[in-house]
Formats: sequence, C-alpha cells, structure tokens
Amino acid sequence: MTKEQAQKEIAELSAELQKHNHLYYVQDAPIISDFDFDQKLKQLQSLENQFPELKLTTSPTQRVGGEITKNFETVVHKYPMLSLANTYSKEELEEFIARINKTSDEAHEFVCELKYDGAAIGISYKNGKLEKAVTRGDGSKGDDITANVRTIKSVPLVLHGNYPEEFEIRGEIFMLLEGFAKLNEARLEEGLEPFANPRNTASGTLKMQDSAVVAGRPLDCYLYYVLMDKPMAATHYDSMMQAREWGFKVPPPEQNFIRKAQNIDEIFEFINYWETERHKLPFEIDGIVIKLNNFALQQRLGMTAKSPRWAISYKYKSEEVSTRLNSVTYQVGRTGAITPVANLEPVQLAGTIVKRASLHNADQIEKLGLREGDYVMVEKGGEIIPKVTAVDFTKRDENLPPFEYIKLCPECDTELVRQEGEANHFCPNEAGCPPQVTGRIQH
Ligand code: IVH
Repeated sequence: MTKEQAQKEIAELSAELQKHNHLYYVQDAPIISDFDFDQKLKQLQSLENQFPELKLTTSPTQRVGGEITKNFETVVHKYPMLSLANTYSKEELEEFIARINKTSDEAHEFVCELKYDGAAIGISYKNGKLEKAVTRGDGSKGDDITANVRTIKSVPLVLHGNYPEEFEIRGEIFMLLEGFAKLNEARLEEGLEPFANPRNTASGTLKMQDSAVVAGRPLDCYLYYVLMDKPMAATHYDSMMQAREWGFKVPPPEQNFIRKAQNIDEIFEFINYWETERHKLPFEIDGIVIKLNNFALQQRLGMTAKSPRWAISYKYKSEEVSTRLNSVTYQVGRTGAITPVANLEPVQLAGTIVKRASLHNADQIEKLGLREGDYVMVEKGGEIIPKVTAVDFTKRDENLPPFEYIKLCPECDTELVRQEGEANHFCPNEAGCPPQVTGRIQH
C-alpha cells in the first residue's frame, strides 16, 4: 500500500469509527455489532502502526489508551471553576428563587438538571478538536488529565456541525454503578480491598498514570455548561442543545435529565420526581442543580468568591435506615481472602429490600464497635451492596457478647492468617479449601 492510499484509508476508517462511537456511546443507538467495530478498529491500528507519521491526534485508537503520564501538569483555568451553593431545605430554595425574582424584573426562567456525583472536568476544544481536559483542582488551576479523558468514549475527540473555533465545556465524569460493582467483585476475588464508592473511584481513576487502565474502567461523562468569550446562544438551555448538535453527551430532555421551569412549583415537581426516580438511574446523583437560564441575567447577578449567584444545588439526604444485625457470616474467595457479610433483618431502603450488607474486613468491624444482635444504620450510597455505617448505641443490649472475628476458615477449618499491613484475613489452605479450588478452576 502506498502512503497516499494509507492516508485515505486512515481518514475514512477514522471518520467511520467516530460516527459509530457517537452512535453507541452518546446516542445509545448503535447500528453495527461490537465485533464489526473491533475489526475496523484493528484495521486502523495496524495501518497506524505501519505508517506512524499518519496517525491523527484525534484517532479513535486513542480510546484504548496507552499513554503514560508521569506527572500531571498544572494548568491555570481560563474561566475559574466555581462550586455551587447548596441547600438541603426547600425553604432555602424558595428564598433563593425569591431573591432572583426580586433582582430581575424581566421575565426569566430556570433550568433544572441532575447533579451528577463524580469529578468535575473542563475540556477545551480548538477548531473542532479536543485540546485539553483539566480537573477542577482548587478552582483556579487544575491538573492536565487529557490522555485519560481521551479514553472516555462519550467525550468527542472531534466535533461536527457549526461549532465555535474555541470554547470550553464543563461536565462531570462519573462511574457507572454496574461497572463499579463488577470492579469491586474482581478486587475482592483478588484479595484486594474494595473501592469505597463510585465517586472516589472515578476521581482516583482519572489520576492514574496508565491511560490504558483508565480505558478499561466504566467511566462516563455528561456535559453541563458551555463557556466562550462571545456566547453563541442567549440561554443556557439553548447552548446545551447546540452542544448536543456538535456531538456532546448533554443531559437529554427526553429522559427528563434537564428541563426548563417557569416557577417554583415546576422546580419542586422536578425535585420530587427525581427524589424517587433517581434510584433507577445507572449512576449516582446527589441532588438537583437549578440554574437561571438567561446568560445576560446570569452575568448581571455575577458571583461570590466561591459560587455563582444564579445557580444553587438542592441535595437529597442520603437514605439510611436502622435494622437488626442478625449475624455475621464469612465468604472465602478464590485467593483465600475472607470477607465478612452482615445478615440483616430485611428492611426497605431506597426502593429495594435489603437483607445483606458488606462489612469489608475485621478492622471495619472493630471500628464500628459492632456486636451480633445490635441495631445498625444501613446506608445505600453509590454501592449496589449497601453498607453498615454505624451502630445504633441507643438500642444496644448490654448483654450482647463482644464481637469475635473467626480464627478458623469457615469452609475447611484451617487456621486463618493475616499478613502485616493486609486488611483481609486469608485461608492459607490453597490446595484443599473447596471455594479456593473451585474458584481457581472457574477463573
Ligand atoms: S454547574 C458555575 N451543573 O457540582 C456552575 N455542576 O459544587 C458550576 N455538578 O463540582 C457547576 N452536576 O462538578 C453544574 N448539572 C450540573 C452539575 C454540577 C454536578 C458538580 C460540579 C461541581 C459541583 C458544584
């Protein structure tokens, strides 16, 4: 193949893969099979290996990662990355709306959105190409994590349509719940400590040095604010819909992820809807964001040192219930790692009936001061498996005996070991302990 032929083919394959990537990850409407996609990707990869000088900076092969970042460079934000004032109370939210109504006599509307629980990102584009992705950091400067963000398939590397020459778009990178649970299952099997929650795991993943590992993690991203020197739209809502045309994954109005609200009643309607529906989402949200829609009004209101005066977040209280800890049992993993499990008196929590909760390891049990028979607080955060957060000492029966962690393997009676610095106890009987043997065969 000549260089000219290769160049043409690389351009065609890249464009085609870009299109399918967008259909799959942004629009959720693929038209070719995963197999066909992978074949085309491999074809492109092999061409790029043959002609490395022809590889585009926006190549779809970037999605698989491979770039190692030793030190993340510090970047000063062109526009400061503010945080949001937040409230847990509907009265305070009413005051916020009333304040805005008082300061702006012109007609104005609000936009309600989900508050994604992940890590904030600012991504700049130049001439339709992703240029830089920077973390929030301290708000005035953050870390350049471009190589890692390029692996997130819902973030476009090239744009289409009538995009401006230069702009920045802000959004939230988060981890999908199902992928998070799978990641933790795999970690437990390996005898590693599970990750605490999807939010910290998402931000931890973004700071990893090997972008190939990041590529394998189930990260996703919704974009929620467009910034440029001369805005192309008069309102926030319209700018979101424009960004959608350029190829971004913005909150879809079809799924009620974003909605215009004319008054406080419509805002509360949105809040109340998501108060229950949020448990059905494939990712975590921790509240709702309410923004003034009109950019000119936003600008007139300005900001305090930390947050804009034209937006606020209403946070949901994380759901917690009290129930009885009937017993603690132990699971033995493939590597011999022991995981204690709390067996609970079944209780309704965040839309499901909870019977079991994870306890992680002996240290955590000790930290909680747990005893079998105690009433405990159970919380469903990002985890699919709920966790025990505290003992309800007001209900403690003083006759309960102190907790004793098992010394022998529950499966084969071998004495357990715990290495210096390790969180988990292990059963050393690799050759004879049934769940270890069958686990290895299955693996
Ligand atoms: S707007 C100037 N919209 O919440 C407005 N923020 O403390 C800035 N967040 O770290 C933010 N979902 O990353 C906005 N729909 C949404 C959001 C959102 C989540 C995060 C944001 C920031 C924090 C605000």
